Amino acid sequence: MIKIKFFALIAVFSAVICSSSTALAENAKPTGLENPLKTEMQALDSAFKNLITSLMLNNLSAIEEPFHEVHKAKHKTEEALERKEIVLPKNNDKVAEFIKIDHEFHHQLEVLIKASGKGDLKKVQKVTHELLDTCIQCHTKFRNL
Ligand code: HEC
Repeated sequence: MIKIKFFALIAVFSAVICSSSTALAENAKPTGLENPLKTEMQALDSAFKNLITSLMLNNLSAIEEPFHEVHKAKHKTEEALERKEIVLPKNNDKVAEFIKIDHEFHHQLEVLIKASGKGDLKKVQKVTHELLDTCIQCHTKFRNL
């Protein structure tokens, strides 16, 4: 009886050690191997936060600049998608739908940039709401929000 308990304990310990060493290996990944989709999302996140502040303060000319980074990152994501290097956290078998939402999203971004260039506050406000809805829609479907 004691022997069985002892072996069970060893099994638990080795499981813990194994899982912590994989966690370490993942953290040790060099940044050059970052997932390009995550890199794009991080750029998008800061561009979007800047958009909210600029909209709030009616400073529309400040909206465009951070989206240039998103645009560059988008090309890297597209290349990685073509090479099938991107694994979506959820519904990875529905990549075609992901690409469709992504295309529409980037089209809406262009509408946004044009409207901000014209100083069209109403349009910027409307498109910002639509974009936010799409962030949530896509995360619900492909990221577990
Ligand atoms: C076409 C789909 C799609 C759209 C649109 C989208 N996202 Fe994402 N986003 C994803 C997916 C998929 C992930 C998960 C990537 C992963 O973990 O591999 C993600 C992850 C993220 C992350 C976490 C990145 C990280 O380092 O783990 C942030 C932040 C983010 N998105 C912000 C946004 C914002 C802000 C918007 C809207 C302005 C947005 N996303 C629109 C698909 C999308």
